[in-house]
Amino acid sequence: MHKDQAARVTHTQGWGAYHLLALNSPEIASKAAPGQFIMVRTSPLYLPLLRRPLSIHAVSGPELHLFFQAVGAGTELLGQAGKGQVLDILGPLGRGFDLSGDLEGRRAALVGGGRGIAPLFFLAHALRQKGAEARVFYGGQSEGDLVLRERFSSAGFAAACSTEDGSSGFHGLVTDLVLRETAEAYAPDRLYACGPDGMLQAVAKLARRLNIPAELSLESIMGCGFGACWGCVHKIRKDGEEAWHKVCEEGPVFPAEAVVWGEEDR
Ligand SMILES: Cc1cc2nc3c(=O)[nH]c(=O)nc-3n(C[C@H](O)[C@H](O)[C@H](O)COP(=O)(O)OP(=O)(O)OC[C@H]3O[C@@H](n4cnc5c(N)ncnc54)[C@H](O)[C@@H]3O)c2cc1C
Ligand code: FES
Repeated sequence: MHKDQAARVTHTQGWGAYHLLALNSPEIASKAAPGQFIMVRTSPLYLPLLRRPLSIHAVSGPELHLFFQAVGAGTELLGQAGKGQVLDILGPLGRGFDLSGDLEGRRAALVGGGRGIAPLFFLAHALRQKGAEARVFYGGQSEGDLVLRERFSSAGFAAACSTEDGSSGFHGLVTDLVLRETAEAYAPDRLYACGPDGMLQAVAKLARRLNIPAELSLESIMGCGFGACWGCVHKIRKDGEEAWHKVCEEGPVFPAEAVVWGEEDR
């Protein structure tokens, strides 16, 4: 983990509540892996006191890219950051997606819901570098949530899209779109997902049904991001035991079968 108090914003782009920021942070960029995150101080003032966790959306040379949705005080402030502004960040943090082993010729389905699409861009590039085929499924409430479509397609990953209100792409949940595709022509041999809990649970079920492995990137409220506060725990099944584990250190990415959601996933 590295602390960079001089991460300069080099580029910004916004679509309503969604924002893309590029930051110059060579040390963190050089160590980042897909699925890891950084903790960002969103204001130089006293409040918000705690840093906010954001996934590493992409790495380009010395730059880190972040993609986020403004949902509260911290992300609203970050969305106002301009080119040249200096941010204080910690990272890279956590355990990302498992890219070990030979992935040549593998078929991966990447499932992102809303802002949960953020880490999948970095992942798609890493899978391609390892010779795997990455197919992206991108879901939102409505068309206005699918702001990264162009970014994916210009990088060579045409995303299959869905909206719950039917304003664009498949009308329904992104997991139903994946289900439809897998029932027709496409047979992935692994799933990766990031998004709201309901979507992650549906992906876990789908993986069980298709009998393929899945990895889920969990969101939890984080105080520190590096294991000190126990603010981020989630129930995880490990060696046959269910216990509370720190999402910031042991995750945020977990194998789907390890994540305990409650009675409904038994
Ligand atoms: C590992 C990790 C990676 C993340 N990556 C991204 C990302 O790439 N892009 C992105 O848009 N968001 C991401 N998030 C979620 C993001 O951290 C929260 O939206 C942000 O911290 C909210 O801060 P705020 O000050 O704007 O809102 P607050 O005012 O703190 O909260 C606003 C609302 O968001 C809820 N909230 C706060 N923190 C979280 C959280 N960590 N997870 C879920 N809900 C939260 C609060 O309960 C409240 O309802 C990630 C979260 C984690 C844990
Ligand atoms: S966020 Fe503090 S222990 Fe995980």
